[in-house]
Amino acid sequence: MMIDRDGIARPGTPERQILDEIRLEALPRHVAVIMDGNGRWAKGRNMTRVQGHRAGAQAVRIILETAARLGIEVITLYAFSTENWKRPTLEVRALWTLLKEFIDSQLETFKNNNLRFQTIGDLERLEPSVRKSLDRARQSTRDCTGTVVQIALNYSGRHELSRVIRAAVADAGQGRLTPEAIDENWINRHLDTAGTPDPDLMIRTSGEQRVSNFLLWQIAYSEIYFTEVLWPDFGVADFLKALRAYQQRDRRFGGLAPENSSGTQTNGASPVQT
Ligand code: FPP
Repeated sequence: MMIDRDGIARPGTPERQILDEIRLEALPRHVAVIMDGNGRWAKGRNMTRVQGHRAGAQAVRIILETAARLGIEVITLYAFSTENWKRPTLEVRALWTLLKEFIDSQLETFKNNNLRFQTIGDLERLEPSVRKSLDRARQSTRDCTGTVVQIALNYSGRHELSRVIRAAVADAGQGRLTPEAIDENWINRHLDTAGTPDPDLMIRTSGEQRVSNFLLWQIAYSEIYFTEVLWPDFGVADFLKALRAYQQRDRRFGGLAPENSSGTQTNGASPVQT
C-alpha cells in the first residue's frame, strides 16, 4: 500500500517532523490501546465523566483514521471491560449509548476507509439494540481489506481464557478433543482474536502503568508504551510518538540481539538516535 505522508501530517507541522522519523516499512502490524483518562480529562475541565467519554470518542475517530492511512493491519481498542459494569448505572448506560452512536455514525466512514469492523469480548450480556448495531457494522464491512478495527466490549483477558477452557472441556466431553491436541496453536484459534497477529505494540494513556486484564495471552512479547497524555487529548502527534518509540525498541522474542543471531525476528529497527 502507498502511504501518503501529506495525508497524515502536512509538511512543516510538528506531527510531520515525527512522521518523518518513522520508517513506514517497519510499522507494528497490530496496535492495542488502553484508552484511559477520560474521567480525569473531564474533571480538569469541570465537565461530567460522560462528557469525557464523548471527547474520548472523538480521539478514537482521529486515531482510527491515522491507523488506516498508515496501513496498520489491526488496531484493538479497549472500550468496555468486564469490570466496567461496576461503574454507576448512568455512566454504564451512557457508555453503551455512546458506543452505539459512534458505530452507527462512523459506519460509512469505515466503509469509505476500507476498515473492517470486528469485536472481541462476550457480547451475550449486551442489549439487543447494541448487538444489532455491532452485527450491522461487522456485516457491512466484512469485505473491507484495509485496517481491522477490533473493539473490545465486555472483554477481559481472564474472561476470554476462561471461555477458551470451557470450550476445550466441552469438546473433550463430547470426544472431539484430546489433551495432546491442546497446544498454543489450538488456544490461539479459540481466542476472540483468532486470525489476527499478536499485538506488537500496546499503548496505555493517562500515566497508569498496568495492563488491566487486556489481551493477557496475546501480549506475551508486545512492546508496551505508556504516556501521561489523557485519552481525549491523544492525537496524531501522540500516536506517531508511540510508533517512533516502538521502532527504537530492540525486540528479541527471547533470542539474542540481531548482530548475534541470524534468525531472530525484530521490528526491522536499527535504533534511531535522537
Ligand atoms: C477510561 O477512562 C475509558 C473507558 C472506561 C471507556 C473508553 C471509552 C471511550 C474512549 C469512548 C467510546 C469508545 C469508542 C470505541 C467509540 P476512565 O473513565 O477510566 O478515566 P479516569 O481513569 O480518568 O476516570
